[in-house]
Amino acid sequence: MHTTGLAVETMGGLYERDALARDLREARARSLAIYSHLDLETLRVPCLPIVNPPLWELSHIAWFQEWWCVRAGGQGRESILASADELFNSSTVPHDKRWHLDYPPPAELFGYMADSLEATLKALERAAEEDLYFFQLALFHEDMHDEALLMTLQALKLPEPPVELKLPAATQNLRCDIRFDGGAFVQGSRGRKFAFDNELEAHEVHVEPFSMASHLVTQGEFAAYIGDSGVEAPRHWRNMDGRWQVRRHDRWIALDAQAPMMHASFADARDYCRWNHRRLPTECEWEFAANAGVLSEMFGHVWQWTSSIFAPYPGFRPGPYADYSEPWFHTHYVLRGSSFATRPRLSHNRYRNFYMPERSDPFAGFRTCALER
Ligand SMILES: [Fe+2]
Repeated sequence: MHTTGLAVETMGGLYERDALARDLREARARSLAIYSHLDLETLRVPCLPIVNPPLWELSHIAWFQEWWCVRAGGQGRESILASADELFNSSTVPHDKRWHLDYPPPAELFGYMADSLEATLKALERAAEEDLYFFQLALFHEDMHDEALLMTLQALKLPEPPVELKLPAATQNLRCDIRFDGGAFVQGSRGRKFAFDNELEAHEVHVEPFSMASHLVTQGEFAAYIGDSGVEAPRHWRNMDGRWQVRRHDRWIALDAQAPMMHASFADARDYCRWNHRRLPTECEWEFAANAGVLSEMFGHVWQWTSSIFAPYPGFRPGPYADYSEPWFHTHYVLRGSSFATRPRLSHNRYRNFYMPERSDPFAGFRTCALER
């Protein structure tokens, strides 16, 4: 293993080659741990647009890593698994087809996952400095899928995984609106550090003055809204003898009035704002506020819906993984921040997450802005 100090810049600074190898191993162990309490050979998963067959998704993670780190994006050598491209390339294998493919036995797929990782680590030892980008891409891709695996467990009411997860708890400090003066602001990422294509290019925008809530909307506040407005309860909630419960995987737990609202759809968030004479922040306002660093619960609690439709920044150019952003522009909404299920290495002010507005399986809530008088 090289310890020459060669590194690529990452969000928080420099990503050393050794640290990258360590994190690639750790991420793979976590991916496997998330489903380790289930028998994947017998588990039947319904064909829903929001989930993937578990063995397909795990194998796809391994395929993606091998494709970019070992096989030069398909320009290099053949896959370790002969049928890997026909089975696990998400760009060419349509979603619904993933339930009806002729897969090798699970033991062979788990062997492929291990072999792909070992080949990747070997390639990392001799990779040119400029190619370290692809190892980070594979790492972050795995991190994102790991959160999707956790969302699948929630969506399908499967038991809680044996990995450490710290649910967002109540924050005790004073809740208020914070006033931002706005003005000229550079939105997006710039520089040599790793960035996804949709964060680039950094560009100057003008932000009008705005006031944003210091905290996330809580479960108690959302329950008050349902009670007052009579709207239908969110998908993962139920009322038992006058008390609200929230579903966590395969069991129901009492609503925690002080904890952030979670599993909100975009409509849940927007309609709450209308009822409360508030509004959702734009993604630009969210980023402006994040840069000021004065709000609570911005990262590591729940993703936060914004009012912004996911769209390219001026000068957008697709990255090497061209299907990461471009196919989803103008249909999805942007969420900012990060959830308790997001790896901290993915979490930063400029990061743009995006989901279809009807999704309620993400670990998503929201914060509100004051309507300007
Ligand atoms: Fe993927």
